[in-house]
Amino acid sequence: MITTAPDTNRVAAITTGLDRLRRSLHTAEDGVPHHLDEPSWEPGFVADFPQTGVGSTRMAAFDYTTAELHGREGLPDDLAMAGPVELLTAQGAQVLRTICRDLKACAVHNDYVVSHRLRNVEAVSPFVRAMVRDPAFLRNASRLVGVPLIPHPLRNAGVQINYYEPPVDGADPAVAKWHLDGMNYVFTMTLSDHTEHTGGDYLYYRGHPRDFDIHREEITAAGASHPDVHTASFQHVGDTVFTRGSRVYHAVTPVSRGDRITLAVSLFCPLLGDQDENRFWHSAPDDGLLRTLGNWRELRRAVRRPAAYCRREGIPILPLGHTA
Ligand SMILES: [Fe+2]
Repeated sequence: MITTAPDTNRVAAITTGLDRLRRSLHTAEDGVPHHLDEPSWEPGFVADFPQTGVGSTRMAAFDYTTAELHGREGLPDDLAMAGPVELLTAQGAQVLRTICRDLKACAVHNDYVVSHRLRNVEAVSPFVRAMVRDPAFLRNASRLVGVPLIPHPLRNAGVQINYYEPPVDGADPAVAKWHLDGMNYVFTMTLSDHTEHTGGDYLYYRGHPRDFDIHREEITAAGASHPDVHTASFQHVGDTVFTRGSRVYHAVTPVSRGDRITLAVSLFCPLLGDQDENRFWHSAPDDGLLRTLGNWRELRRAVRRPAAYCRREGIPILPLGHTA
């Protein structure tokens, strides 16, 4: 008899339908530290821009038609992926790494999308809150994508730390299941050097989600060996990859050695707020029903009146045309 060992690198896809309602009613709060003694943010931590040799892929390479693209006349918005790029200096990335390591004690396990994560990082880290409001940080992120970007009004999902480590005592390994984000503009920054871990690879499907859904079983079973599945080339602490998360299926494989930490910063385009792709029933299983209702009100207000949102939140209003 031939027996096949379980494929420890296989990553499942997220669940949908009634399972989302069940999860929405049974969601644990993320832990909030009582005291956090962390270094202060410094504007000098923002890396110089633009940088040379940054790869980029447009939506056409993912089989999207012109009619499906984000943007509008005068404001094209068709970048699919870009990077790796450095948003922080090496010193800034090291400081952020230390902060995110310290916050691990507050992270929560949840097997909906990312197994082990801390959401709403802005609420617990003044450093991160100042970083995503720094005019130079936002200007560089906006230049990379080509549209103006500011902190996302859905605060729980806006900045998240993901922790990947080998499974303990037969538990399921920490992964990110195959999924689309609600967020359009996602910057994933690795805070681990690639030599520090085995596995923990960021996979993405280079094709249309419609085709992923048709071939879901085959693609998730094959993982990185599928011809249309690629691995993002994170190497060093601070390496950052932009993904149009709501349009590109992606996943993270289990770590078998060492550990990996990533910071996912999702931003918002105030000029294209009506094209934000977050969906209530995508967020609720992560954050719970009550909190998602409150978050949703905030998102709707910001979409209707983005300038008022910026004033309320102390977000710098970048001049139009700053992306050039
Ligand atoms: Fe994601």
